[in-house]
Amino acid sequence: MLASLAMLFVAVLLLLFLLQGQRGEKFPPGPRVIPIFGNVLQLNLKSPIKDLERLTKKYGKVYSIFFGSRPLVVVNGLEAFKETLVSKAFDFCGKPQDIMFNYAFQVQAHAPGVVLADYSPIWKEQRRFSLMTLRNFGLGKQSMEQRILAEISHVTKVLEENAGGTMDPHLLFHNAASCIICQVLFGKHFEYEDEFLKFSVELFHVTSKILNGPWGIEAFRLFRASRQKRLQFMAENKKTRVPGKPRHFIDCYLDEMDKRGDDGSSFCEDQLCALLLDLHYAGTDTIANTLLSAFLFLSYYPHIQDKVLDGKDEVSFEDRQQMPYVQAVIHEIHRKGDVTPLGLYHSATKDTELMGYSIPKGTIVVTNISSVLNEEGQWKFPHEFNPENFLNDQGEFVKPEAYLPFSAGVRMCLGEALARMEVFLVTVSLLRKFRFTWPEDAGEPDFTPLFGTIQTPKPYRMKIQLRETP
Ligand code: HEM
Repeated sequence: MLASLAMLFVAVLLLLFLLQGQRGEKFPPGPRVIPIFGNVLQLNLKSPIKDLERLTKKYGKVYSIFFGSRPLVVVNGLEAFKETLVSKAFDFCGKPQDIMFNYAFQVQAHAPGVVLADYSPIWKEQRRFSLMTLRNFGLGKQSMEQRILAEISHVTKVLEENAGGTMDPHLLFHNAASCIICQVLFGKHFEYEDEFLKFSVELFHVTSKILNGPWGIEAFRLFRASRQKRLQFMAENKKTRVPGKPRHFIDCYLDEMDKRGDDGSSFCEDQLCALLLDLHYAGTDTIANTLLSAFLFLSYYPHIQDKVLDGKDEVSFEDRQQMPYVQAVIHEIHRKGDVTPLGLYHSATKDTELMGYSIPKGTIVVTNISSVLNEEGQWKFPHEFNPENFLNDQGEFVKPEAYLPFSAGVRMCLGEALARMEVFLVTVSLLRKFRFTWPEDAGEPDFTPLFGTIQTPKPYRMKIQLRETP
């Protein structure tokens, strides 16, 4: 009797073992699934982009891979992107809730922030408020521009100190990007030596590289410490706050909470705390790494720098309309920067279809942004850094449909306006003052970035020379 039970138990285990990772009939195809591991062993998790490209050639624009027993549907190329994010936007605007990242980020059901929040009234309410507040603080308008230009003067000072020599701009750009978003969130300029700034930059840098990879205790520890620091900030802020006279994002949020009272909305201090991390994180690492890519490419191709200059000393964001070549350079920076190669995981909000395949509710969907930004047939020069990708035969600025570094649809980046303004102003202002070149003794640059949810160019040094003032 005992022996039969044991055999039955083993048989059930074996069946479960064999069944796991099986694809349903109309589920997107993909490589053979290895029990327990799924397809993890067939991918280079440190840099899976090439593997994903290889799989696209074999299985088409939509295929599936398994992480253990969990399937992920990978969407590649513009056509599949448009169906996922635009025509079926509401079928695919969920966010998976039971992944390791959410635990480390300390996502709470009643206060999930925005970035990792599932599609829900909470997400809608918090996203709308965040967008509106960023806009009221001058996004796309003069005041934000002044804040960015003020930060650029700090960057300029550091570069002046290094003029005539070489420097690794990594920390400088992270500090600058972090300071700009901190102005909006906390209404305060942090010195580059400030402990909070240093801690945050380190947190974003370390964790953005391990989000898709092996998780360590370190990430959990860092996020926990970060939460404590944000709570401390919020408590200190209350001592000087005057209701109805908001100085920054935190005050606006607290005013909104007062206004709403007990109306059952999702506004609460836990949610504020989550939003502060979302916006600080998303507003720092993405922009800093875009700037790092910008100056890596521009140092190696200095002739492009010279074409960006038009004789003016000062730059304004408004000027971009009259600067087609500069527009093309900035867009090419975002394209080749490719800082969020796989976007942020989406999930299916209901049983649905994609490019003829069946996708059950809850399936994780990976939007391979990198595949669109580098897709052959969509770009004149898909694989090289070349502003001509955004210029027509008359030299006018044009934006191809496949330009989607900020994703598309209902979950698209809510900081796009800030990002575009920041990258434009920093790049153009610095090029007006300095000439950046690739050091003669540095060998050939390696343009392949270090993969992560947010990817980073490999460390490099650039040579800095002050331009002659006319
Ligand atoms: C070059 C800079 C940036 C790039 C390339 C970028 C790209 C992205 C991408 C690809 C997504 C995922 C969209 C999706 O799920 O389909 C995203 C989401 C998001 N981004 Fe950005 N981003 C940048 C800068 C910023 C900045 C400056 C902020 C805030 C100040 C920001 C805030 C957010 C937020 C809150 C979300 C989540 C939106 C939601 O799920 O509703 N981003 N971003």
